[in-house]
Order: sequence, then structure tokens, then C-alpha cells
Amino acid sequence: MLYIGIDLGTSAVKLLLMEADGQIRKIVSREYPLRFPHPGWSEQNPADWLAAVKDGIRELVSGCDAGQVRGIGAGGQMHGLVVLDKDDKVIRPAILWNDGRTAAQTDYLNQTIGRQKLRQYTGNIAFAGFTAPKLLWMRENEPELFDKIDKIMLPKDYINYMLTGVHCTDYSDASGTLLLDVRNKCWSKEMLDICGVSLRQMPRLFESYETVGTLKPEIAKALGLPASVRVAAGAGDNAAAAIGTGTAYSGACNISLGTSGTIFIASDRFLLPPDGIHSFAHADGRYHLMGCMLSAASCNKWFMEEILRTKDYPAEQKGITGQMLGRGHVYYLPYLMGERAPHNDPAARSCFIGMTMDTTREDMTQAVLEGVAFGIRDSLEEIRRLGMDIKTSTICGGGAKSPLWRKIFANVLNISLTMPETEQGPGYGGAILAATACGEYRSVQEAAERLVHTTGVTEPEPALSSLYEERYRTFHKLYPALKGLFPEL
Ligand code: XUL
Repeated sequence: MLYIGIDLGTSAVKLLLMEADGQIRKIVSREYPLRFPHPGWSEQNPADWLAAVKDGIRELVSGCDAGQVRGIGAGGQMHGLVVLDKDDKVIRPAILWNDGRTAAQTDYLNQTIGRQKLRQYTGNIAFAGFTAPKLLWMRENEPELFDKIDKIMLPKDYINYMLTGVHCTDYSDASGTLLLDVRNKCWSKEMLDICGVSLRQMPRLFESYETVGTLKPEIAKALGLPASVRVAAGAGDNAAAAIGTGTAYSGACNISLGTSGTIFIASDRFLLPPDGIHSFAHADGRYHLMGCMLSAASCNKWFMEEILRTKDYPAEQKGITGQMLGRGHVYYLPYLMGERAPHNDPAARSCFIGMTMDTTREDMTQAVLEGVAFGIRDSLEEIRRLGMDIKTSTICGGGAKSPLWRKIFANVLNISLTMPETEQGPGYGGAILAATACGEYRSVQEAAERLVHTTGVTEPEPALSSLYEERYRTFHKLYPALKGLFPEL
């Protein structure tokens, strides 16, 4: 039997075909445009996602016995607002997770409604990228479009809806809307009222590993798949990546180094988070904590491709010698799109600081890699304040392929990092959810334990960790020192 895993990312969709025993038979990907119509805004066209997914699936199953495909499961970029009218037409481009236009609405929620009430209703406070402030923004700025909303959904839910006709979501992704009472796993009546929407417009809630439906006959035909193929509810990309890296037992940690950077800790219980951290439902039926930085591997991509004008990342990193690590005097603040965790500040901006006449290209590249690791360390410190002792983590995402960056991370965080054998985090997690939905495994945890294997470990080195400890202390002072200036920029 075969299962399709979909990773609906921000720059591209990646699809993989997994055999029942976890072997990956084929991987394909399709890119789509990302638009920044104003500074700090970030949008995509749901039709582009759908076209890419359909085209990708056709290529994925070409040359195999498509009759063997039993299930599809997606991990999708979180928080994006997708709105459809009564004829199922997309009303406006999706407003994405890294869009910072909702500063005023986020302040209204956190200050006028109040953090305490938000925590009581949802378990979390408001962040600019969350879905609820985007609904408020639409109500204030696009009232005619807001009035047309018939269905509200998240990015991967749009794909599931177009594949099955079922208006659905899962608890992990729904957690990031700020409309879900995460602890009790139901829509919050209070939050729906605050945002001026009704239960009728909201998707039906499922566990990530439950089947939401089967392929619509015309879609099955167009994809060359049997109409009996089941579609699992799927998950937010971080929860899906956590499943794909085996982060499915209490206390397990995964770091994802993609466009965004996240630190994800699985938990048996719902935990009230500190201000900068999210407390969401996990794709295995339990819960998790998460710190999310908006620009992680994207900082390095920006510096390499836009500034240094190269795509040869290893060549740029080759000049960064072991001697240079922990000893640089240049710092980089990774806030290209503002920052979510832990600062919750859409106005924050990136900067280099500390250059001298002898500063080199390598120093600046190193500062970018370190700045992202320091950003994740900021979230780790918040999580440690809850009394959690994180000693090891898996690491996944495009950035994790760099041995140098893994070494920097292991030493900045002072934890050991393991790589999963399959680095397709969200897509692999999506396929595991599909296999569980089809009854191949009794639970997500059982599937993850049997299918996910890890490979090389990067251990922190005591001398280097203590050098980084000092550098982190300096880094930690930079944001508070610059914070007041950012809105003027
Ligand atoms: C998580 C978040 C990002 C996106 C990236 O809260 O906003 O990790 O899910 O796709």
C-alpha cells in the first residue's frame, strides 16, 4: 500500500510517496509565488497551491500502480487565512503566517480584550500572524469582502476541501487561529463573537489522524487515483514535522529550520504558556509547546541570494573555520519579517551590529547563522522557565542539512541534536497520518516509533558552548536596546 504525504510550504509544496513500511519511493516538488504587496505583508493565491498539489500528485503517482494508493495526509503552513464565498470562490489572497499587517488588531486583542481573557478562551495570547487578528483586519479594512465570507479555513484545509468537499480542519492547525479553545478542543464561542464570525462559517474539527473523507470522483479521475483514497485531516506543518521526526512522546523536542524556525516540545498535558510561546494541540491527539521565529533559514537564503548573490551555500560556509566559532564580534538580529517568539513584535527589523574594518564576508555569514540560533535560544529560555529540561532534540528542515549550522545550534543551545534519516519532516508526518487514518497503525505514536529512525548526532562541546553562552548574553541585550527604534524605521 502507498501513502501520499504533502508538505504545503511557503515557497513550495513537496510531495512524497511512502510505502506502508515507511520507505520513501518518490519525492516531487512544485514552487509557487509568494507576494509581499506592502512591507510586512505576505500573501499567496490558494489556486496556486491547488494547481501545484494536483500537478505534483500526478507526477508522484506516474509510473506506479496508482491502485495501491490508499491515503493522503498534509502538513500545511499554519495560521493563513483562507476565505471562500457561498459559491466556494476564494474571496481574497490568503494572508499568511508571516504577515505583520495586524499590529493594531493584535494590540486590541491583547490589551483591550486582555491577555487573561484570551488565555481563558483559547490558552494563548494574540500574535500578529494568527488567524483571528486577520479576520478583525478584514472586518475593518475590507468590510464588503468580510461580509461575503461563507467558509473560513487554513491553507492545507483548502486543499482537503478541494479534494474531498469536506469543510474541515484538525486541532493542531486550528490551535493557531486563536479561535480554538485548545485545552477543551472546541471552537471558542467568545472568540468567534469577538471576531464577528459564527460557528457555521468554521470548519469541522478532527484529530489529525482521522479520515475526513474520500476523493471527489472528478478529482480522483483528474489525479489518476481511485475514488476510495482516504484523506486524513492532516496537521499544521510543525506538528506534522514533529510526527515525521518521531517527536510523539512527552518531553520530546524537535527544531525545524525552514523558512520559519521553530522549537517544538510534545506534552501529555495542556500547559499554559509564557507570553512569547504557543500552547497548541499536537497531531498525535495530545499537546505541545512551541516557539516560532518568523525568519530562520530564510535569513540565510536572503543573505546568500539577495545580498551575496550566490546559491553556493557550502562554498560560503567553507571559509568559516572552527577557530572563528564562538569568537565573532558581529551580531545579526534575525527579524526580517518582524518577530513572533518571544518578542511578539511585527515592527522588529533585522540588523547587523558590531562590524569593524576587518570584518569579512565570512564573519557576516557566520553572524547570520548564529543570529538564527540565538533567536531559537530565546524561545528555549522561555520554555526552560516552565521547568522543562531539554537535553536533546531532533532537527529538521532545509537549514539542518548544513553540518556547520547544526554545530552552531548544538553549542548555542547546549543540547545534542539528532537528524532523522528522512529529512522530509512535514511531508513524512503527513504520510504517517494518512497511514494511521487508513488503519495501517493503531496510533500515530506507534507509527512514529516504528517508522522514524535517526542518524548522526551533533554533540555540544563544553569549551565552545561556554563561548557561545557569553555571546548569547550580549545578543539577548540587543533587541531590548533597539526595540524603541524599530517603529521609526
Ligand atoms: C508556526 C508558524 C510557521 C508556519 C510555517 O506557528 O507560523 O512555522 O507554520 O509554515
